[in-house]
Amino acid sequence: MSGQEHIEGTGPVTSYAIGGRAYKIIEHEHDVVIVGAGGAGLRAAVGCAQAGLRAACITKVFPTRSHTVAAQGGIAAALGNMGPDDWRWHMFDTVKGSDWLGDQDAIEYLVREAPRAIIELEHWGTPFSRTEEGRIYQRAFGGMTTDFGKGPPAQRTCAAADRTGHAMLHAMYGQALRNKAEFYIEYFALDLIMDDDGVCRGVVALSMEDGCIHRFRAHAVILATGGYNRVYFSCTSAHICTGDGTAMVMRARLPVQDMEFVQFHPTGIYGAGILITEGVRGEGGYLTNALGERFMERYAPHAKDLASRDVVSRAMMIEIREGRGVGKNHDHIYLHLDHLGEEVIRERLPGIAESARIFAGVDVTKEPIPVIPTAHYNMGGIPTNYRAEVICPREGDPDAIVPGLFACGEAACASVHGANRLGSNSLTDLVVFGKAAANRAAETITAGAPHKPLPKDAGLAILERIDQLRHKPGGTRTSKLRIALQRAMQEDCAVFRTGETLAEGRQRVEDVWRGLEDIAIADTSLIWNTDLIEALELENLVLNAVATIHSAEARTESRGAHAREDYPERDDENWMKHSLAFVDGEKRAVRLDYRPVHTWTLTDDIEFIPPQKRVY
Ligand code: FUM
Repeated sequence: MSGQEHIEGTGPVTSYAIGGRAYKIIEHEHDVVIVGAGGAGLRAAVGCAQAGLRAACITKVFPTRSHTVAAQGGIAAALGNMGPDDWRWHMFDTVKGSDWLGDQDAIEYLVREAPRAIIELEHWGTPFSRTEEGRIYQRAFGGMTTDFGKGPPAQRTCAAADRTGHAMLHAMYGQALRNKAEFYIEYFALDLIMDDDGVCRGVVALSMEDGCIHRFRAHAVILATGGYNRVYFSCTSAHICTGDGTAMVMRARLPVQDMEFVQFHPTGIYGAGILITEGVRGEGGYLTNALGERFMERYAPHAKDLASRDVVSRAMMIEIREGRGVGKNHDHIYLHLDHLGEEVIRERLPGIAESARIFAGVDVTKEPIPVIPTAHYNMGGIPTNYRAEVICPREGDPDAIVPGLFACGEAACASVHGANRLGSNSLTDLVVFGKAAANRAAETITAGAPHKPLPKDAGLAILERIDQLRHKPGGTRTSKLRIALQRAMQEDCAVFRTGETLAEGRQRVEDVWRGLEDIAIADTSLIWNTDLIEALELENLVLNAVATIHSAEARTESRGAHAREDYPERDDENWMKHSLAFVDGEKRAVRLDYRPVHTWTLTDDIEFIPPQKRVY
């Protein structure tokens, strides 16, 4: 450290010399810092600000460009606007969808809070589609049923046409501003600040505009950084989905959970990967193979095209593998909605009609859309309890919490989705657990309480890493390593897996891991250095891929989205447990551990739902 000064409008500025080069770290103090401004981050920010906490939200893109904006089909809650519904049925469907890897206390919390969350969003101005009577419109979605799976499909998914995430995000950003949450926009979060007692004390971030490093002290950090599906070659996720929060947690020597469970959405546009909402099938759309067969009738006689996503994706891949795919290479499937009529398409599905026209050259009122299962969602993430407190098991306590650290949204693993998430439960998860994090922060933090001194030179390690990245004489471009990683994950760790493909994939991912040593940055400046940001994102992606493929290779059973061809059955006796991966980036070492699934509910209003065979 070489000195301290003050810059107008910020905290003190500390100067450092690293590798002979001068850096400044700008200090900030807040009660709570939220990292990420998608649905979960914004909901947490609103809640913290409403509770009187000084809340800062750090985000690498403008809030309304967060990936939640791409969520199409809707948000699940048992409102019962379209017919009978019950939160217990929603709970049953979610537990079954999770293939009994979900924590049932957290699932009960999710589904009971869901209706309240929808009404709140409505009051905040979310423009939901309406029924003739003026109620919030709800559509059918995969795996959502009535009467504990015995009744007809439930219409439980509240929709704003096919732009639900977009509508929610704008409403919540407005509320966050109204409640005076403070935003640090286009700041890239680098690392958590942990003290010697294992308490999270803040976060270090890089302002992309000017390259300054900012050190945020906070009584709590809420990670809401989204998923990491950019480890795959073809995904529905935005380029920003690089697992920054999960990687920060791994660098802090904390575990990530259930990373082997990656959801492939059945209907990504063939070739482009763009999402075509499950809402299409909810409105009556269906899939066909090269013979024109509605093949889902064979795989899921009851739910058909509205079976759970893992089931539909596997069925599509089997059709393609057995030579019944469509197109000149027989390598995709058709999604039909031409029979729905122009009015339904215009009112309920305008966004996907546009996407299909632009990305597949298809007029959906006349032709089917070419689709293929595409990486879409990470069920795994940072382990938390239902209050969104981060968990790191210790001897005798598998649910021990990490003081000062919360996680919510796709970055987290509460675990309400277990081995497979039901479509439209994600938006519910964002707002329910974003609010839970804010509630718990408000319960445990006194607004304006003084901060303890930070550990000496907190955040300097990351500064050294950045300095090295900018100046070391490497020979490999980030893009070359990234594509090698994405191809390895796509080819060896996708819808179907075997011990052999996973072992080969692990080698390929580890080659990329080693390759990071030789990464070359062409731009050495600090101003809008996208070259540097992409290299930092790649480091994050690699940690996420390593955790995923190691956990997948170790799990010798099939459950939910983890379909092992060499272990085709679910094995509750040995594997009804959460995987934990501790990834040490410096030593390039991985340690796996496990913690029990919660087999209890939150209240006596519903009993534990015991494992059953999962058929649709
Ligand atoms: O198909 C969709 O609209 C996606 C929804 C979801 O992933 O929840």
